[in-house]
Amino acid sequence: MKRFRNYRTDQRIRDKYSEVALITDDLIYPYFIVDGNSFKQEISSLKGVYHLSIDMLLKDIKEVISLGINKIILFGVIDKSLKDELATMAYAPDNLVSQAVKAIKNRFPELIIVTDVCLCGYTDHGHCGLVVDHEITNDKTLPLLSRMAYSHAKAGADIVAPSAMMDGQVNAIRTYMDQNSLTNTRILSYSAKYASNFYGPFREAAQSSPAFGDRRTYQMDYRTIRQSLEEIQTDIDEGADWVMVKPAHTYLDIIQRAKQEFPTTPLVAYQVSGEYMMIEAAADSGYIDGGKAMIEAITAIKRAGADKVITYYAKKLARILKNET
Ligand code: PBG
Repeated sequence: MKRFRNYRTDQRIRDKYSEVALITDDLIYPYFIVDGNSFKQEISSLKGVYHLSIDMLLKDIKEVISLGINKIILFGVIDKSLKDELATMAYAPDNLVSQAVKAIKNRFPELIIVTDVCLCGYTDHGHCGLVVDHEITNDKTLPLLSRMAYSHAKAGADIVAPSAMMDGQVNAIRTYMDQNSLTNTRILSYSAKYASNFYGPFREAAQSSPAFGDRRTYQMDYRTIRQSLEEIQTDIDEGADWVMVKPAHTYLDIIQRAKQEFPTTPLVAYQVSGEYMMIEAAADSGYIDGGKAMIEAITAIKRAGADKVITYYAKKLARILKNET
């Protein structure tokens, strides 16, 4: 008889056999920035995550850094009255995200800042691209995404992360930044981003729900597999430095294939808002131990092949990892 149970006798032995370990360096923490002063309000759909004005953001980042987290991703949330059909506030001079980037870089130059580059939080209709005659146009969206990415990069963002799922967006951004002599900014492309029902809580957080239709004409159909590899290959060819699979917890097979196919490209997985809130809600109902389920879920994402994980749990997990050592 093969004695498998000898691998599991106690914690020390189990640790010896483990093949995956979570480390704080893997984590990317998301922030939702709003205009104003001294503003901090919990997002009703995303437990423990806040809308923060830039001054409060800086305070929170101090804590994040003390926990050993070295990467964050920023989302701008603007007032409805400022949204328009051209998503002007996404790339306007001194836009909200660029202001935040400058303020953070000034105080915490070592922190790696990623910015989300997408129009959905800035268009009056809430789609990720420019709408002409009720159609989400692809090619006319590209210059706007390029200007948005450029404004973040110019403000000091280390990594810009296009998430609009427009074809050619990585090439457009790379070309525009090269033409404007910003050659050091990396691009993290949301390459394999599926049209998912698990984004629900985020859309309330970012106030970015589409006013008509849905995102299925540009985000991927969740019944597809090989397209995800083509999307990733194309983004790498267009100049992406890092690529992403999103969502994460319900797309472990896609993460695994992506890592197998592109072993040398850093792979990020996004444990999205609905995946986070499912664990939170089940824990609140007493069905599961939320802390342990969180660690299991994020371990599964890494086990599948993700190098980095964007997660609303980053702070909580970093705290646990810190207390262990
Ligand atoms: C912007 C964007 C979305 C998310 C990240 N960037 C929403 C969407 O595509 O509808 C979702 C993140 C989450 O659910 O946590 N396009």
